[in-house]
Parts: sequence; structure tokens; C-alpha cells
Amino acid sequence: LVLVLDFGSQYNQLITRRIRELGVYSELHSHKLTAEDIKRMNPKGIILSGGPHSVYDENSFRCDPEIFDLGIPVLGICYGMQLMSLHYGGKVEKAKNREYGKALIDLNEDPILYKGTPKQQTVWMSHGDKVIQEPANFQIDATSQSTPIAAISLPEKGLYGVQYHPEVRHSEYGNHLLKQFVFDVCQCAGDWTIENFIDMEVEKIQQKVGDRNVLCALSGGVDSSVVAALIHKAIGDQLTCIFVDHGLLRKNEADDVMKVFADDFHMNIIKVDAKDRFLSKLEGVDDPEQKRKIIGNEFIYVFDDEAAKLKDIDFLAQGTLYTDIIESGTETAQTIKSHHNVGGLPEDMQFQLIEPLNTLFKDEVRELGSQLGIPDHIIWRQPFPGPGLAIRVLGAVTEEKLEIVRESDAILREEIAKAGLERDIWQYFTVLPNIKSVGVMGDARTYDYTIGIRAVTSIDGMTSDWARIPWDVLERVSTRLVNDVQHINRVVYDITSKPPATIEWE
Ligand code: XMP
Repeated sequence: LVLVLDFGSQYNQLITRRIRELGVYSELHSHKLTAEDIKRMNPKGIILSGGPHSVYDENSFRCDPEIFDLGIPVLGICYGMQLMSLHYGGKVEKAKNREYGKALIDLNEDPILYKGTPKQQTVWMSHGDKVIQEPANFQIDATSQSTPIAAISLPEKGLYGVQYHPEVRHSEYGNHLLKQFVFDVCQCAGDWTIENFIDMEVEKIQQKVGDRNVLCALSGGVDSSVVAALIHKAIGDQLTCIFVDHGLLRKNEADDVMKVFADDFHMNIIKVDAKDRFLSKLEGVDDPEQKRKIIGNEFIYVFDDEAAKLKDIDFLAQGTLYTDIIESGTETAQTIKSHHNVGGLPEDMQFQLIEPLNTLFKDEVRELGSQLGIPDHIIWRQPFPGPGLAIRVLGAVTEEKLEIVRESDAILREEIAKAGLERDIWQYFTVLPNIKSVGVMGDARTYDYTIGIRAVTSIDGMTSDWARIPWDVLERVSTRLVNDVQHINRVVYDITSKPPATIEWE
């Protein structure tokens, strides 16, 4: 384990990522961990991250000073280097201006973290304050024009500091530096892989659960599918999944999920057919937020009703990811998330949470799923909103309109797959705006629905661009939509990015 202590930099997750990519397990934790906590975790190295504060700010984040006496190697990055310098009696200057962007550093005598790299290299700086006097006995390893003390070390004590950000790709040999730290300095073995993650986690789950039972809400999305498969591997029939079909799923989705997990994996799954319940609650409701609220609440009621019928359940499994936890800060996220997900459960049901993915990133979860034998169409599934097709039928939802969206979505997906574009486009679907227009089919006038195609590229769904689907693919989709789906006589393509639009239309 290499422990990364979080002082609030936007690059913190990246440090953990880079180290895991080297085959060394790494976790990001609050800077508030005490030296005692850390001793118990027994890491081979500690990295103090960057952060937005100045070490001189009144409320600036500090770490337990005894961390430096544990005999564990420490690498301070940016703010982390400044903290370390201050601790050992160096001087940090409060900045008038920030230095942001690429910079050239020159190396001094063969520093260990730079072994085998050129004497001059590009790094990525992003800092205000800087160290202006290195602590006694420390050597200066690298210098840049505006930051004469760009890297320091005291190798006998395993202490290293860099003012720039080695975790960012723009730092040419940054990865090399992290590699030197974890292997040459910390002596990590580098044998962490997803396979041994599975073995470790299976054992942990078995120990935690014993002969008790676990409940899991399976949606067919990547995260809940992988959680279910992992826990099933550990405890088999002691796991029960509840799969709520709210009637707002895509074509064949419910059958697909049941086929994979009930038939192929032989999991215990209770499939709840709650279509009527959801549709009757949604009847006549045209406000998007109201629709979302109704669906969210109803989901919890249905889940509660089913869960209450089960006896002797002690644990509730959730597909919480590492990013869910750290994005809302390492401190409080855990509680926010659990409240959010189990908030509707009856008070007298005392579940313990079990969240075996909460140390993994999304792509690691995909790899894990793949290793567990989950098919690609689930692992690489595009994001699908909880409220499902209900927010793709604009205005009040009816069965007829759902059917139009469901059928048209299936055709679009089929054509995108045929064109081999599935992994290039982040999300693609059809929407049914509440418009009818005039058309002509055969010799007859029609007055029917317009369907919209939405396809976007994105990294995380926060911003997006409209996907440049080749025109011939769009043409095939358009022809099939009008010919094969009843009540469509016009097809439009949404070419707005987010912002100003959103990905979904509601
Ligand atoms: P928007 O439309 O806000 O969507 O640009 C961003 C991403 O979030 C998904 N989305 C939702 N997911 N419940 C969900 O679970 C929702 O109510 C919801 N609304 C939007 C959307 O599909 C896209 O991936």
C-alpha cells in the first residue's frame, strides 16, 4: 500500500491512479489520519498531495507531524513539499502570483528519483507559495528559473519533495519519478492486479458476512452488476438480488439482465414487475422533476416492500465507487452516499452496508467485471438514467409513447453497433418531443410524431459535444425509424452541446 494523504488538490485521484497503474495498490485518505492510524495501515510509502491552501493560511490543512517519525518514506508534492519543508525548518514564501503551466527544470547530481532521465526536462507547475530555503541537510535535486527549489530530498531518511505535479501527463518524466519512489525508495513489489483484488475481496466479504445474508439492488448497470457478481462469487446463495422492472427500461433489457444473472450466473434474483405501479403514478404528470421524484420514490417503496418480505438479511450491498466517495471529499462522502441510497428503507431494518467497489475507479470496475465473466454488453453499457425512458418521452408518459421511444432506441442502438461506433459515443438514444407534424407516405398525408436522435461524446457527462455520426449511418437510422416504427413520420438530429443544452431533453 502507498498511502496518499489528501490536502485538496484537484489532481489527487490521479496520483492514486498512476501508482495503481504501476501495479502498486494505493489509496487516497484524509490528511487528518493520525500517525497511529497510518501505522496500523502499514503502508510502504506516504505521499502528501498538493492543495489549494497556503501553509500560512489560518485554517490550512496540516498533517500529524509524527507521520515524519514513522520511518516510512514520504514524498511531498507541491503543498505537500511545502509542509514537509516547514516541518524540517525550511522556509516557504507566500506567493504574490501563481505559477501555472509548463516549466523546464535542471537536475543536480543524479538524484535517485530521476535516475536515467535527461538533465533537463519539462514539468507541470501549479502553485502559489514556494520553498525559498530548503531545510538543513536536505539537498536540492532540481531547479527551474522561477522556482530555484523545485525538488528536494534527504535520502537517508527517505524524504522527497517536488514543487511540480509529477502525476500530470505534462510532466515528461513524472511517471518515472513516481515509479522510482514506489520501487527504489519504498521497495514495493508491484504485483497488485485485479485478479488478486478479487481474491482479497472475496476473502474479506466471506469474513465479514460469515453465514449471514446480503441483499443487493440490481439494475443491470455496470456497478450494481459487478457488485452482485463479486459478492455472489464470495457467498453464493447467501446473496439475494432485487431487480425492479419499472416498465421504463429499454427493449429486452429486463430479459437480458435476467438471462445473464439468473440463468448464466445462477444468482438468486427476485424480479419485480412493477410496470403498472409506476405508470399509474406517472399518469398525466408532465413536469420532468415531478416525474423524477415519483419514479425515485416509487422505486424505494417497491424495493422496501420486497425487502420486507425477506427474512434474516443483515447486509445491503451497494455499487459505490471510489470516485463517489472522494468526489465529495474524503471526510463526509461515505455518509452522504449511504443516506442517499438507503434513505427509504424502513427504520426497523438494520442493515450494514457492504461496498466492495469503493476503492476502485470505473475502468478498474470494468476490468473486474470482465474477469468475473460478465459479458461486454453489460460492462460497456452506456449510462442509462434511473428514471429511464420516462424522461425521454417529453411531457406525460403513456404506454404508446414509451413504445415509440423503446422501438426507436433499439433501432438506433442496432445501427450504431453495426457501424462499430458503440465505444466512440458516450451516450446515444432517441427522444420523443411532444410534436406532431405533417408528412406524406405512399400517396397519403400523415400527421404523426417527430423523433429526435441524441448522441454525445463526453468524458464524465458533465459536459458533452454532439457526436459526428457519419451521414450514411444517420440516413440508415432515419429510414428505418420511419419505416419500422409506427407513428413516426419525421426524424431530427440534436446538434447542441452541453452546455448550453443538457444530454437528456428533460
Ligand atoms: P444531463 O441530461 O443532466 O445528463 O446532461 C447527464 C448524465 O446524467 C444522466 N441523467 C440521469 N441519471 N437519474 C440518473 O440516474 C436522473 O434523473 C438523470 N438525469 C440525467 C444522463 O443520462 C447523462 O448520462
